[in-house]
Amino acid sequence: MRSALSARTKDARSRFCRGNPSFGAHVMMAASISTAAYCPGRRRGHCLHIWLNVNLTVESWFQKQGPDMNAAEKTRGLRGWLDRRYHLTPLFEFLRRKEVPLGTHWMGWYYFGGITMFFFIVQVITGVLLLMYYQPGEATAYELIRSMHSWSAHLMIISLTLHMFSTMMLKAYRSPREVTWVSGYLLFLLTLGFGFSGYLLPWNKLAYFATTVGTNIVRSVPLLGSWLLEVLRGGQDVTINTLYRFFAAHVVILPLAFVGLIGLHLLLIQRQGMAPPIGEKIAPRGMKFFPSFALRDVLLWLACLTLLLTLTVFLPYGPGIPGMDWELGEKANPMAPAYPGIKPEWYFLWEYQLLKEFPPHLFGLEGPQVCLFLIAILFGIWAIIPWLDRRAYHNKPSPAFSDFGWAAILFLTYLTLTGWDIGARGASSELAAMHNVARVCAWWTLAAGAVVIVVRYWLYEDRWFFLAGAALLHVALHGLVGMSYLLAGAISVVLAGLVIATSRLVGSRSGSTGSN
Ligand code: HEM
Repeated sequence: MRSALSARTKDARSRFCRGNPSFGAHVMMAASISTAAYCPGRRRGHCLHIWLNVNLTVESWFQKQGPDMNAAEKTRGLRGWLDRRYHLTPLFEFLRRKEVPLGTHWMGWYYFGGITMFFFIVQVITGVLLLMYYQPGEATAYELIRSMHSWSAHLMIISLTLHMFSTMMLKAYRSPREVTWVSGYLLFLLTLGFGFSGYLLPWNKLAYFATTVGTNIVRSVPLLGSWLLEVLRGGQDVTINTLYRFFAAHVVILPLAFVGLIGLHLLLIQRQGMAPPIGEKIAPRGMKFFPSFALRDVLLWLACLTLLLTLTVFLPYGPGIPGMDWELGEKANPMAPAYPGIKPEWYFLWEYQLLKEFPPHLFGLEGPQVCLFLIAILFGIWAIIPWLDRRAYHNKPSPAFSDFGWAAILFLTYLTLTGWDIGARGASSELAAMHNVARVCAWWTLAAGAVVIVVRYWLYEDRWFFLAGAALLHVALHGLVGMSYLLAGAISVVLAGLVIATSRLVGSRSGSTGSN
């Protein structure tokens, strides 16, 4: 029994304290103190069970320990006062020793989580200020704060996207950080929810019609479609009830869920530390979090604040491109006819464009239904990447998953550019405009893809390009050859599958070389 318990203890210690030995020592000390103090006369196994469930999460930070107790008694001032009551010394000690791993990768990627956090804080502050003046359905004078809130939302989504893809490329999701990835993924979904619900709140003509189009998509969800639509809209149509629902979601439901999840995300990062570069069990060097990394963080936050204020003052209604324009315009009028060319925010453009590429009917189902099914599969794969990438799990470079990340970026780039109608100007007819857009966007995406491949080849010594290659082939077949989007996609996926299977069969070296 005793040896089983000590094995469990060791296992728990190694899982929770990987890369953080001092923290591990705190946990172990807390364990022995609490076992003796709280469980006199009780069975030890029972006590250890309690410890595993409770102490690992709370006491290891706040448990008073011998030397620290003395330190707390001696410390004067506010810190001593707090320490004697709340036993914060272990927490301060932990933070003092905290390090960020240095490796061959660019350290800059480690800052995007913090930058996203900064923009989220700006969102909360400006959101509360807006709340003081905003009344649903009324136009009120709060433009500067509104502009700041809108700019900060866009900048937050940009930094969030960079953070998500950088943690993906660095394989920071690998064991034991799977839950960090999943909590981040849920934060990403909630952020999109904020964007979608916030869009309707100005209650102007554009927001009204964009929300009508956007919410209409859920109608295609099999079986639950019309029920979901009614839940979302508060009726069959977009009315003032929809506005009240979106308002409640935007200012209460989503923030509550977001704050809970962000707490979990940050707690996990504190417990496990940041992921060392893949392939190295323990990071060879580390940068002290306090003060070195934290000061850099603060400096970057100041730069972000300067950028945000500059944009707010000089471009109060956005850069004026579709999907980034928040001039109030006319008030919403459900009786007014819908006007063509309504687009969602830029970060939803890829979905909007993908829906447009599907025919009305496919495989006996409605086209949008098949499209939603495909999007659900893609989102599902993204959520479980930590469990799919077996090489990264064993701390080995997994170039196929880096390539998957790049293929996803190219796929999103092409759809977003075409959704933006880049290249449509000057065309004689709607059909000619569509062909022009596809061609121009294909050239842009192919150029970006070529740069990515060359950089990965030379700088990172990657040799695995099958998926990024398939994404580029898809773009070329659709945009340059003029094939339908779905046929081009099917050909590219089948070809990629064949090439990967063949290369595996002939034992090609390409699968085992490369960096991340
Ligand atoms: C509002 C959303 C988010 C905030 C505020 C946030 C914040 C942070 C912060 C401050 C860090 C530590 C420093 C860093 O690596 O940048 C971090 C790490 C991490 N985040 Fe996020 N994050 C968010 C969303 C996401 C998303 C969408 C994902 C992925 C789906 C994600 C996955 C991760 C992972 C795996 C780590 C660990 C990095 C490592 O160990 O090197 N996060 N996050």
